[in-house]
Amino acid sequence: MVKAAILGYGTVGSGVAEVLSCNQELIAKRAGNPIEVKYILDLRDFPGDPNETKVVHDIEVILQDPEISIVCETMGGNEPAYTFSKRALEAGKSVCTSNKELVANHGAELLRLARENRCNYFFEASVGGGIPIIRPINNCLTAERIVEVSGILNGTTNYILTKMEQEGMLFEEALGQAQALGYAERNPEADVEGYDACRKIAILTSLVAGKTVDFHKIHTEGITGIDPTDFAYAKKLDATIKLLAVSRETEDGYQISVAPYLLKKENALAGVNDVFNAVAVCGNTLGDTMFYGRGAGKLPTASAVVADVVECARHLQKTVGCLWEEGEAKVADFDSQEG
Ligand code: HSE
Repeated sequence: MVKAAILGYGTVGSGVAEVLSCNQELIAKRAGNPIEVKYILDLRDFPGDPNETKVVHDIEVILQDPEISIVCETMGGNEPAYTFSKRALEAGKSVCTSNKELVANHGAELLRLARENRCNYFFEASVGGGIPIIRPINNCLTAERIVEVSGILNGTTNYILTKMEQEGMLFEEALGQAQALGYAERNPEADVEGYDACRKIAILTSLVAGKTVDFHKIHTEGITGIDPTDFAYAKKLDATIKLLAVSRETEDGYQISVAPYLLKKENALAGVNDVFNAVAVCGNTLGDTMFYGRGAGKLPTASAVVADVVECARHLQKTVGCLWEEGEAKVADFDSQEG
């Protein structure tokens, strides 16, 4: 039996417990062992919840329990997630996370800690929700020099833009729906101002570059300035509006930006609607390949975390290699970038 703990019993954390329970038998078979959630760390209690007896309020209970070999960090935000993740890795416990803010800020350091302590730091759920993208770049595309990564990396803004275009919905109403559906961040400014997509393209570029991209250097614009008039003009041009994250390797470093784009309807990304995300990856010998699926939401994101849990259980006390190491990747100056 492999024992795990979940840090944060919100949308994604409760989804992790649900996926582990719903697919219990096949997960046990694939992981080589049954996986049991022993603890759930949260500030709150959950009376009546099937996991209510597992709730603890002190991280030390988890860190000091030698039975726990895997920790799912679904708290979000930098602290205390950073401290808890570091301490779990230092104790030799693998960490699986959906926390893009933490991965973008400290991914390389946490990966090093995992290597030093013969465990793993996995973050498939941090980009693209349920879409497989981290492991494909790390493994399946490892023969490639990746020259471009681009796409729709935020489910909330894509949902809002779709509702504004197709149903004439107002921005605030569409945002309210995205929040009610569990897509938006606790502070939805991260979604609508483009910061969430910025962190995600920084993570993908860090993997591609093998070094950390400082996301503060990425030119980032959100969708708060988009209004119904913009969609009316887009329609006249047989186009739509999408928030795109684009990262290209150039001689001056990586050209990276997040901004709303006018896309002709025949563009493959123009048909990516609602909460769906799509990531196009271009390799020097492979050419183009694309990954598509639900980019946010409880169960799709939880499914990616649980896939990481299974991968951890298959590699107990053995670190799986990651392309991303410490050091800083060069980001091209935005003002010098071509249009
Ligand atoms: N708020 C994020 C989004 C959640 O809408 O894409 C998934 O990372």
